[in-house]
Amino acid sequence: PSPALIDRFGRKVSYLRLSVTDRCDLRCSYCLPKGFSGFEEPENWLRFDEIERVVAAFARMGVSRLRMTGGEPLLRRHLPKLVSSLSGLPGLKDISLSTNATQLHKHAVALRSAGVSRINVSLDSLDKACMEKITGRDSFASIMAGLQAGKQAGFDPIKLNMVVMRGVNDHEIMRMAQYCFEEGFILRLIEAMPMGETGRNSQYLDVGPIREQLVRQFNLKPAAAELGGGPARYWSTQDGKGTIGFISPISQHFCATCNRVRLSVDGTLYMCLGQEEKFELRPLLRAGISDTELESAIRAAIELKPERHEFNDNPYKIIRFMAQTGG
Ligand code: GTP
Ligand code: 5AD
Ligand code: SF4
Repeated sequence: PSPALIDRFGRKVSYLRLSVTDRCDLRCSYCLPKGFSGFEEPENWLRFDEIERVVAAFARMGVSRLRMTGGEPLLRRHLPKLVSSLSGLPGLKDISLSTNATQLHKHAVALRSAGVSRINVSLDSLDKACMEKITGRDSFASIMAGLQAGKQAGFDPIKLNMVVMRGVNDHEIMRMAQYCFEEGFILRLIEAMPMGETGRNSQYLDVGPIREQLVRQFNLKPAAAELGGGPARYWSTQDGKGTIGFISPISQHFCATCNRVRLSVDGTLYMCLGQEEKFELRPLLRAGISDTELESAIRAAIELKPERHEFNDNPYKIIRFMAQTGG
């Protein structure tokens, strides 16, 4: 192993988010604008062998958690094959996946046997029509089938990501909490971040007051266990059986404990969701750099990591969409 990756603010980078594709079969309003067509060309996608080299380098430098995202990661062909090769890497303790679940019924078993330990599923509503409004597609039945397939494949617990939007799905929060308690899912309520023209509108909701209401309603207490490596803050029912997480990038950011960077499908390392700092690895990989040089390049990239996002100061700053950066 090589020395750990520590940024200029003393934060250890231990969590890599890997976007395996920028494509998606849905068009969630907060993630991709209608009619978006700026997807990467296949020749610019990192190949599996290139991804393996980069992830191996990160793992040698102390990254122990890897999360695959997109776009929709299950649209990348042969994903379980990639997982199998990554799961053997020394140092990697946790390979997880964030998916919209539309294709999960086809891949859940293969992903689990390949070494995916945890999955998070985006689900903003339990109402078919409302889901169609948010995602731009009629996807509800396949998502529900995907969720059940995930459960049957043994993923436990599954986290459900709900981006809360005023006037769109906020009336469903209580129902969603009930549903998750019954199904054994962990609900996570997420504040929308302004990315390009998405997520920056009047639908923004602060999860703080929602948390207070849920704490009263279900008599929640701060959760005892650590539930993943991300920024969510968790609250549980008194018997510990029901848990809800709150992700508040806007109202109460968590940048001081940020542990992550993102590798996009074209091999760009993004240092922060809400800043422009980035480092392009693909040209170096394709120029045939050595492993030592790759490690130095990653260290140089980490030097660029900013202290925090500036979504609150300038909601127009970031013009890339979530699907481009990696969710
Ligand atoms: P685990 O805790 O490991 O289960 O995962 P996670 O919560 O980090 O992953 P997930 O892909 O489910 O992320 C959920 C949402 O949290 C993302 O879509 C973002 O909206 C938000 N989020 C995750 N990481 C960051 C981050 O570093 N900064 C900001 N601002 N938001 C983040
Ligand atoms: N703000 C907050 N969360 C977002 N996601 C996508 N776009 C945004 C945004 N603008 C979330 C989705 C998914 C996760 C990977 O990213 O809800 O669950
Ligand atoms: Fe880290 Fe940037 Fe997210 Fe803050 S906004 S937690 S610094 S990635």
